[in-house]
Amino acid sequence: MKEKSIELLNKAVADELSAVHQYMYFHFHCDDMGYDLLASLFKKTSIEEMLHIERLAERILFLKGDVEMEASTPVKKIHDVKEMLVLAGEMEEKSADDYNKWANECSANADSVSKKLFEDLVEDEERHFDQYDVEMDNMKKYGDNYLALQSIERSKNVGSAASDNA
Ligand SMILES: [Fe+2]
Ligand SMILES: [Fe+2]
Repeated sequence: MKEKSIELLNKAVADELSAVHQYMYFHFHCDDMGYDLLASLFKKTSIEEMLHIERLAERILFLKGDVEMEASTPVKKIHDVKEMLVLAGEMEEKSADDYNKWANECSANADSVSKKLFEDLVEDEERHFDQYDVEMDNMKKYGDNYLALQSIERSKNVGSAASDNA
């Protein structure tokens, strides 16, 4: 029973690590292009995924396993914002699906604490999906203007900081 839970918890760690890396990669590129809102959303979500790893790791160690710190997939070098949001949404959907299934498996193995942990994570992943979905809708509604606005906002902030310091 313990071995199965440890295996599932480690699979989740691998997916969470992939998400941390992928979202930070998106963060760097959005930041570089001046899209502050999206850059900060990717960074915030990446940090939340890191905290998921911490919770999974604590459970693995409690069950006397060890944490395999290997990402499940390499970072995809996507620079188009729409494609970033599509991939991020798909990753969240997959995590929510997997964690629902794994919660059931842990429950069948009478490991209610791991079950509860996976259920908590599903809640977060669904919220992440929703956040990316909202951004996707904004992109569809406003197109490139949505990104242009974020760049203008950045320039305004930089400009006002410069005049404050003058
Ligand atoms: Fe996560
Ligand atoms: Fe997530």
